[in-house]
Amino acid sequence: MNDKNRIFLFDTTLRDGEQSPGVSLNVEEKLEIAQQLARLGVDVIEAGFPIASPGDFQAVKTIAQTVKGPIIAGLARANRADIERAWEALKYAENPRIHTFLATSDIHLKYKLQKTRSEMLAQAVDAVKYARQFCPDVEFSAEDATRSDLDFLAEVVAAVISAGATVVNLPDTVGYTVPEEFEKFMRTIIERIPNNEQVIFSVHCHDDLGLAVANSLSGLRAGARQVECTVNGIGERAGNASLEEIIMALYTKHAFFQKEVNIKYNEIYKTSRMVSNLTGMLIQSNKAIVGNNAFAHESGIHQDGVLKERTTYEIMSPELVGVHKNNLVLGKHSGRHAFKERLLELGYELSEAELQKAFALFKDLADKKKEISDDDIEALLKDQGRSV
Ligand code: KIV
Ligand code: ZN
Repeated sequence: MNDKNRIFLFDTTLRDGEQSPGVSLNVEEKLEIAQQLARLGVDVIEAGFPIASPGDFQAVKTIAQTVKGPIIAGLARANRADIERAWEALKYAENPRIHTFLATSDIHLKYKLQKTRSEMLAQAVDAVKYARQFCPDVEFSAEDATRSDLDFLAEVVAAVISAGATVVNLPDTVGYTVPEEFEKFMRTIIERIPNNEQVIFSVHCHDDLGLAVANSLSGLRAGARQVECTVNGIGERAGNASLEEIIMALYTKHAFFQKEVNIKYNEIYKTSRMVSNLTGMLIQSNKAIVGNNAFAHESGIHQDGVLKERTTYEIMSPELVGVHKNNLVLGKHSGRHAFKERLLELGYELSEAELQKAFALFKDLADKKKEISDDDIEALLKDQGRSV
């Protein structure tokens, strides 16, 4: 594999994803998701924002101590207290990364930070240098990059790289850009940086116009090598770029993008269900890749086509992403083994005692209902007080 074409997947479900209104995950839930993200094979897990709360600090620390394989990142504003707190939690990780950020747009500088551009520049450089004293891997994010003055942004990017940033992230914080525009924006900044191979450029797109995935893919075409995203696209406001959609776009259109990711595709569906169950954020039926209807064929013409040859109406196989469409229908004759298998596919790992109780409830329900759907199983587990 040509290393230049290797894309690093930075998952921020546990940080930006948790910033979805109404979502709050406890330490155990975060750890369970982080372990599943490691099984899926993401390169970086942003585990949280350690200074935000004692719970978030504990979650980042526990994940840093426990989850092996991916880089574990923690967010810090560009100040010393945040960076110290982030490091306190991250220092246990096999591969830690401090992720520090500061806004570069005039709107943010004037109204939110009340700082001049030169004050911002000095603060960003100081933060990166300080973070590097603790950690060899430091990411700097220029918040609201896409609404920033291009010359000033290029100056900040060059300065933070000289200060020691190993990754530079250019977020479309308010989901304001469109694909062609974003591709040009990323290309311009990357080209303006001398020795740009020594740093990894990253994209982080929000979905306010429903373009987060399309913009992220454009950023990768422009030369970004890290993409920040969340499972099911959860996150602030309309959310972040959806991890599963990015992965499957790169896979399905490999001939076009020619980019490689190192992912276990058949863990996608399970990860999606786990995140939905633990966050309580439902997945819309027509959601690409992981929605209930993503591989359903309703019309007679489509059904006929798929029965003759599935590629007539399926651009990827459901099995590839871990959706076992052809599973036996669960009903009153189904056994414990089939029930347990279905639970695993849905992201539920139950203890023996929990499984026994859930199976008894399932049998009761199966006496009343001919076919038991995935939603029925999840409702049943929720009644039992088990979200996952
Ligand atoms: O959207 C954003 O700008 C962010 C940064 C903190 C990376 O989430
Ligand atoms: Zn964000």
